[in-house]
Parts: sequence; C-alpha cells; structure tokens
Amino acid sequence: MSEKNTRKNILAPSILAADFSVLGQQIKEAAGAGAEYIHIDVMDGVFVPSISFGMPLIQSIRKVTDKVFDVHLMIVEPERYVKQFKECGADSITFHLEATEDADALIDQIHALGCRAGMSIKPKTPVEVVRKYLSKIDMLLVMTVEPGFGGQKYIPESTERIRRARELADELGVDLDIQVDGGVGQDNVHVVLEAGANVVVSGSAVFHGDITDNVKRFTAQL
Ligand code: DX5
Ligand code: ZN
Repeated sequence: MSEKNTRKNILAPSILAADFSVLGQQIKEAAGAGAEYIHIDVMDGVFVPSISFGMPLIQSIRKVTDKVFDVHLMIVEPERYVKQFKECGADSITFHLEATEDADALIDQIHALGCRAGMSIKPKTPVEVVRKYLSKIDMLLVMTVEPGFGGQKYIPESTERIRRARELADELGVDLDIQVDGGVGQDNVHVVLEAGANVVVSGSAVFHGDITDNVKRFTAQL
C-alpha cells in the first residue's frame, strides 16, 4: 500500500460463497468478526451466464445486520431495477458500464435514491473509458475475474489495471474508492492493496472454512 494512501481499507465478503441454508447466521458472523460491507452479487443469466438471487433475499438479510449493503448488479438494463434494490436495502449500487447506454443518467438516478454509486468494468474493458465518470462515482469496481462465478483465479493483468485506475483518480484529484472482486484471498490481498485498491471483495476466502478466522486474517492485512 502506498504511503500516501489515507483511505480506509475495507473487507466486503461476497455472500455468493455462503451456505444459503444458514445465510443470516453467516452474515452475522462475518460482520461480527470485522467485515464492514456485505457484497451482494446479483446475476441475471443474461449479462452473465448464471443466475444468483434478487430482491426478496436482500430484503430478508437486511434484518440481520446494519452493515453496508454493497450490491453488485451483473444485469442488463440496470436502470430498470435500481429503485427496487434501494427499497429492499441497498446502500451502494454498482452497475456495469458494459450493461448500460447512459451511465451518466444511471449515476444520477442512483444518487437521487440516496445510494452510493459504483461503476464496474470487466477485465477486457479498457480502464481509460472510466476517466470521464471518476468525478461522479463513489466507487470504481475493477473486476479481477470475468464476472459470473465465484471461486475463480485472480487474473494477473488486473494488478496493472488497478494501478492505472488509481493513477487516473489521482490525476483528477479524486479520492475514489477502488474495489476489486474475484480471486482475492489472504495470499494475494497485499498485491491489490499495493496497486491502489482499498475495498476488497472476497467470497470463497471468507465463507469457505472458519468465517471468523478468515475475516480476522484478512482484516489484519488491511
Ligand atoms: C463474481 C462475483 C464475485 C465473486 C467473488 O462475478 O462478482 O463477487 O463472488 O468470489 P471469489 O472471492 O470466490 O472469487
Ligand atoms: Zn461481485
């Protein structure tokens, strides 16, 4: 991590890797151990090949914790649904730049709902395209795997992409949250932090095994 970085580093466990039969308990455990965000992956089977879950699940788990609900929309036409995601408990809504025609309008729409607005790019989308949005968004999510599934391997080229995104934000003087998502565990979290990320999503490395222990080992490195 660069010495200049005074931003807060945050762990955002992705519930996609949780055991849904005891989801509430597992979220409480992760939150109790020090996770500050709960990362919620919504997949529609169109923008990405698989389908995960939607509003009813989010509404249910809203009852178990006050932690920040960080909703990652891997869906087409996100503008059709952001209001409903806000109503079921989202605090932060991240959409994919590749999934919308009018990102500016969508950012405004998310802000008008009182949510933080995140923008995500897939591994093959050039980082430069986000430049014109960096002053408007609250968080940039640099995907470190192809979106769609948990448990994939970190794409090594991601490190330079994170670094470039942080450079762009610094050039513009924007104190942006940069989130990474996919294949990040206790063994490589230092790589993404050093490159300039400060919000770390992790699914398998939090929910597989001892959740409390996993979260503590993560947060000790943040
Ligand atoms: C992938 C999802 C991720 C995923 C991360 O499309 O956006 O949030 O659940 O899982 P791990 O940490 O297992 O790669
Ligand atoms: Zn995600």
